[in-house]
Amino acid sequence: MSNRTFTMIKPDAMENGHAGAILDRITKEGFKLVALKLTQLSAEKAGEFYAIHKERPFFGELVAFMSRGPIIAAILEKENAVASFRDLIGATNPANAAEGTIRKVFAESIEANAIHGSDSDENAKIEGDFFFNHFERV
Ligand code: PPS
Repeated sequence: MSNRTFTMIKPDAMENGHAGAILDRITKEGFKLVALKLTQLSAEKAGEFYAIHKERPFFGELVAFMSRGPIIAAILEKENAVASFRDLIGATNPANAAEGTIRKVFAESIEANAIHGSDSDENAKIEGDFFFNHFERV
């Protein structure tokens, strides 16, 4: 089990001014920032990041949404990071997310759901490497 996960604060949460509150919540929950950047995905890069979902009916909307504005990408460290962070962000659809989770508090809808969290140790590594080189992490 790895102690790192990868996250993105998505364009809706950035547009709604929630980035600071979300980062505050993440660090207060004991996650240490080991890499952090403000960036914007091109449609091509968003398609590459989410390539695993390319056959799903919402793929086009997902790519358009994730490339429509700035995001914050980060690598986080904590014991049992992937599962612990998925608990903190809550269900994909905020309507189904537990009270107090980041998506319950900050997300608008299943399409604009505020935050991403890796779903496995393997994907956390792949996704972190997608955004950060060795000089951009501690
Ligand atoms: S997960 O977290 O992978 O189990 O969630 P999943 O339901 O498989 O969804 C994969 C990503 O697609 C996003 N998603 C959607 N985007 C647009 N429209 C609809 N209907 C939709 N349903 C799911 C979802 O937020 C996941 O993105 P990430 O960034 O992984 O959270």
